[in-house]
Amino acid sequence: MKIIASYSIKGGVGKTTAAANLAWLAAADGRRVLLWDLDPQGGATWLFKVKAKVKGGGEALVAGKLDMADAIRSSDFDNLDVLPSDFSYRNLDLLLDAEKKPTRTLGQLLDGLSKKYDIVILDCAPSVSLVSESIVRAADLVLAPVMPSPLSMRTLDQLREFIGDTKGKSPKLLAFLSMVDRRRRLHKDLVDELPGSRPDVAKTFIPAASAVEQMGVHRAPIVQWQPRSAAAIAYQDLWREARKRLK
Ligand SMILES: Nc1ncnc2c1ncn2[C@@H]1O[C@H](COP(=O)(O)OP(=O)(O)OP(=O)(O)O)[C@@H](O)[C@H]1O
Ligand SMILES: [Mg+2]
Repeated sequence: MKIIASYSIKGGVGKTTAAANLAWLAAADGRRVLLWDLDPQGGATWLFKVKAKVKGGGEALVAGKLDMADAIRSSDFDNLDVLPSDFSYRNLDLLLDAEKKPTRTLGQLLDGLSKKYDIVILDCAPSVSLVSESIVRAADLVLAPVMPSPLSMRTLDQLREFIGDTKGKSPKLLAFLSMVDRRRRLHKDLVDELPGSRPDVAKTFIPAASAVEQMGVHRAPIVQWQPRSAAAIAYQDLWREARKRLK
């Protein structure tokens, strides 16, 4: 079982969109996939039309009072299950604070699922927190959308540092440029330069496309309902790159 975390310190950069599309593509590839929505906003849960309420919520899960298997829901798609988020996840930081009370790490919680799933994708809330540390420690690969901006190099360096500082095993990092508009000079320059100059940046970038925003209307990943669109093709390429790094 391999664990991919869709993570960034920043909000609104395309984490949930990437997590949803990659989860669907991995499932279509024949992998048994679990998408764990760790964001109290519950975007991924909503997108896959999964009922959010799980008895006891995140608290019961982390405290070991609720079995992971009982909290998992199936989606409308073969091979693709969702572990829904709910608003109790806003307290996840406190729950994971091992100094306050004995608690399970996300990694330990996921260990029990290793026979059931080939790929687990974690959709993370934007933050640098105990939850993010726990996520990074559990992950094999951190998939990080980066907006094309003059700050993107700095964002990447901060991510690298955060991953490097986290105790325990270090996951691989695969950053990718998100919401790229090649008509803009700066975007075009970054797309031309960044992937070649840094091994942790994917060759694939995700174009800005209004169709991607329509995912909320269709309530399904764009790779499912518009597979020949430029954005869907980009997600397919990104999945191929991510898959290679998992080996
Ligand atoms: N390639 C794209 N082109 C156009 N819009 C996009 C693209 N990717 C994502 N969006 C839109 O940008 C917004 C933020 O995307 P998303 O929710 O995936 O980001 P996020 O990083 O998960 O945000 P948060 O930090 O709030 O969890 C959404 O409205 C989404 O539809
Ligand atoms: Mg999100």
